[in-house]
Amino acid sequence: MRNKIYHNNILLSITSLLDYMEVDILKEVSNHGRRTAYVSLRIADNLGFTENELYDLGTFAILHDIGATESSLVQQSLPIDRDLMEKYQDHCRFGQRIFDSFVSLTKQENVILYHHENFDGSGFFGKSGDEIPLMAQIIALADYLERTFFATGTTYDAQSVVDDISSQNGIRFNPVLVDRLRTLSRSTSFWLDLEAINIDYALHEIFPIIATPIRDDEFVDIARTIAAIVDAKSLFTRLHAAGLGQKALVFAQACGFDSLRKNRFHIAALLHDIGKLIVPTRILDKSSGLDRNEIEIIKQHPYYTEKSLKLMGLDEEIVRWASNHHEKLNGTGYPKGLSAIDLDFESRALSILDVYQALTEDRPYRPAFKQQDAWIILNRMVDAGELDAEIVTILKKLLI
Ligand SMILES: [Fe+2]
Ligand SMILES: [Fe+2]
Ligand SMILES: [Fe+2]
Repeated sequence: MRNKIYHNNILLSITSLLDYMEVDILKEVSNHGRRTAYVSLRIADNLGFTENELYDLGTFAILHDIGATESSLVQQSLPIDRDLMEKYQDHCRFGQRIFDSFVSLTKQENVILYHHENFDGSGFFGKSGDEIPLMAQIIALADYLERTFFATGTTYDAQSVVDDISSQNGIRFNPVLVDRLRTLSRSTSFWLDLEAINIDYALHEIFPIIATPIRDDEFVDIARTIAAIVDAKSLFTRLHAAGLGQKALVFAQACGFDSLRKNRFHIAALLHDIGKLIVPTRILDKSSGLDRNEIEIIKQHPYYTEKSLKLMGLDEEIVRWASNHHEKLNGTGYPKGLSAIDLDFESRALSILDVYQALTEDRPYRPAFKQQDAWIILNRMVDAGELDAEIVTILKKLLI
């Protein structure tokens, strides 16, 4: 029977991968996204948002700074810290671009793009009052509170944080939202919930569980969004997962896969490198040879692909095909060192498509191979007992 995929599981999986990215970019897990989501949801709940609206707001709020993972942003401003990153409007634009293909339950527009607008129009894009989506206004307030709260460490003075926000009533923030925050901030539990040790539990308590399963076609859109996040991490893999997804579809069509199998194969291709979110960008973009330790870190990524796809609740087959993409028939692959007997047709096919896709893309240490040179390398890998000869032949007929 087919597994059911729920929105919450996907979000949980992406959020835990983002913790690794925070360590990579900002050198620490700050809980910034989680705290911003918690404050946003408390305010919105107070305003009477519906369950679906709360779910969308929580998702936007947890992932509101996802644009900061864009490699070009990371590179132009290294070394980077949270405050510096928040000052670049690029992270709003990149983030919105990622979200544009995201399935939101209540069809929200430009929430991420405008999450640093000020109520009086003095923000990045000069939007004011009602021109700023309400969800973006809420996130702006929660984001500011979180950063002020966080910067003051454990000895924060809650009252002075609220006084500071109140002094910007109608200037930076919507007075209605400031008023709701004032009410919420009177309770001790509101502040305790924000402590690092409590935030996971507190967020879980307030985040609605959306129990409607995601349809297959919707999930392909979500998988594309995740692929875009992964691809954006390195300048050299900008189209890697998207390109592999395209090739997987052509291949599945040619092999006569039925629609369920084709869909699964496509999703496995789009998500195969999701575990790369844990690999630091400096390693992915390194132009000279990698040292042994760096190679070991790269080799971890299919392990994390398996873990995150399982966490999402995806079908066993998708998880298997995606996480086997670096295994080789002769047992020399990673992370499990599986061999021919363990590798089914789709696992073998995806690994060949992945090698072909990677060879025909630029890498920091070499330019893209021409198609005929890529075939020479694939043939050599077949001769070495790594790749399946028959599947390479099928692929050759399709792409040459
Ligand atoms: Fe931001
Ligand atoms: Fe932020
Ligand atoms: Fe990979």
